[in-house]
Amino acid sequence: MSETDFSPLLQSAWAVRDRAYAPYSKFHVGAALLGSDGVIYQGCNVENLSYGLTLCAERSAVVQAVAAGCRSFTALVVVADTREPISPCGACRQVLAEFGDFPILMATRVTSEETTLATLLPRAKTGILDNA
Ligand code: THU
Repeated sequence: MSETDFSPLLQSAWAVRDRAYAPYSKFHVGAALLGSDGVIYQGCNVENLSYGLTLCAERSAVVQAVAAGCRSFTALVVVADTREPISPCGACRQVLAEFGDFPILMATRVTSEETTLATLLPRAKTGILDNA
């Protein structure tokens, strides 16, 4: 367990989830990414009629952060109104791994589970372009 205070991140993730654009799946996801600058970057899923172009909440948060000038993160919270916590998809794991390893809290309205990016995606960069 990390010593991160997830409360403000949880609040941000639930708030941005309300703005998810998910007319096709009707599945709303919120993400809150804590930058090393102390700023919380929010993301929600943004779907598209050509389904494959859908952007997940997690990658949406990364895009917000990088566009604001932040490239280093210390925690991520992902929320959905499900029975069990959802975890970032494979594509999001790889995109998040670009910016290091950090604790991730996956939460529903009643329960949560903490993990790390390295647990979800081991050896994300090993060997590629000589990244360790
Ligand atoms: N989705 C996310 O935004 N994050 C996840 O971790 C899992 C899935 C979105 C993509 C799509 O808009 C909807 O949830 C159903 O898969």
